[in-house]
Amino acid sequence: MVEKVIIENCRSDFPVLQGGAVSYLDSAASAQKPRAVIDAMSEVMETHYSNIHRGLYSFSQVTTEKFEAVRKMVAGFIGAESDKEIVFTRNATESINLVAQSWGREFLEKGDEVILSEMEHHANIVPWQLLRDQIGVVIKVVPVLDDGTLDLDAFERMLTPQTKLVSVVHVSNALGTVNDVKKITAIAKDFYPAMKVLVDGSQAVVHKVVDVQDIGCDFYVFTGHKLYGPTGVGVLWGKYGVLETMPPYQGGGDMIEKVEFSHTTYKKPPARFEAGTPAIIEVIGLGAAIEYVQSIGIDAIMAHEADLLGYAMDKFGSVDGLTFYGTAPDKAGIISFTADWGHPSDIATILDQCGVAVRTGHHCCQPIMARFDVDATVRASLGLYSSKGDIDALTNGLLKAKELLG
Ligand code: ALA
Repeated sequence: MVEKVIIENCRSDFPVLQGGAVSYLDSAASAQKPRAVIDAMSEVMETHYSNIHRGLYSFSQVTTEKFEAVRKMVAGFIGAESDKEIVFTRNATESINLVAQSWGREFLEKGDEVILSEMEHHANIVPWQLLRDQIGVVIKVVPVLDDGTLDLDAFERMLTPQTKLVSVVHVSNALGTVNDVKKITAIAKDFYPAMKVLVDGSQAVVHKVVDVQDIGCDFYVFTGHKLYGPTGVGVLWGKYGVLETMPPYQGGGDMIEKVEFSHTTYKKPPARFEAGTPAIIEVIGLGAAIEYVQSIGIDAIMAHEADLLGYAMDKFGSVDGLTFYGTAPDKAGIISFTADWGHPSDIATILDQCGVAVRTGHHCCQPIMARFDVDATVRASLGLYSSKGDIDALTNGLLKAKELLG
């Protein structure tokens, strides 16, 4: 049982943040790792590491138990009905590619429509374009309003009997908009109950309590490294009845029942979709990350980030010439902006010299940059360890950048 952690004290749990040299405001790109994650991963390697699902010796049994315990933990974390609905992948990108290539190729035909939104990450655009090239599906795009919210009226008008899938982001990594994915799912399913809905939750699981059954979607994907866990592990959740109908995505060891040169039979999900040795150490690290986040409480993290977001927007009032992208109500702790006195890359370079780490560029969302007619923004993104001191450092860095570039 992990002890309750008070959010104000949690910065000391992150070794890389000690010493105060860096104000890390790029958690949307990848979050820093708490000691609990680092220790859990080291512990596997130092005490009982082995491959899983294959050995009768105790190392393998202990490691297998720890690995499978994380599957249960993930199921509980997102409100899945069963741990059998949790597929471990390499990241959210692979989870979406898996759905496109397995479910998409099995169930979609030329002329079927896939609806995306204008604020999607490239990971939720390109896999569908590959499918379009392969089988001729039609991609339709829900527009984004000026404040960064989705135009749900336009979405409703877009649905036709050919629409087979809606695939949308839960929280935008470029704008911070929190999409009402429950409503989007309800609109889709009211139109046609068999329509499938996929939600990309990579930024959402970090900031919100997610309950996939309450949302009502068919697929939910996220990555481990933004959730304070390691890189190399992601999750695909799918309704079991849907996963069961899907063919394998990749072939290899551990996903088969019987292999003969003439014919091979496959295991049931989730094993069917986990060919080869998985990211054993990383999955165990993801489990430690989820335990850590739960020990603080997602609600406490949300409240802390909302408080800091308000503080940041007040502080930025002292910096002239900024334009913000994504001003929707109740947005997540992601602040995207440009300045009329400097290019985002120059600003980020000066901020780095001031010890402030932000991301600059298109944030793997070129279509939403085009929508707002910019090629890049500066993006500051908050994590559970972010502090008012980080925001003060960012504000001072921006004033310095303005002095140098303005
Ligand atoms: N998707 C990541 C970001 O938003 C890499 O920066």
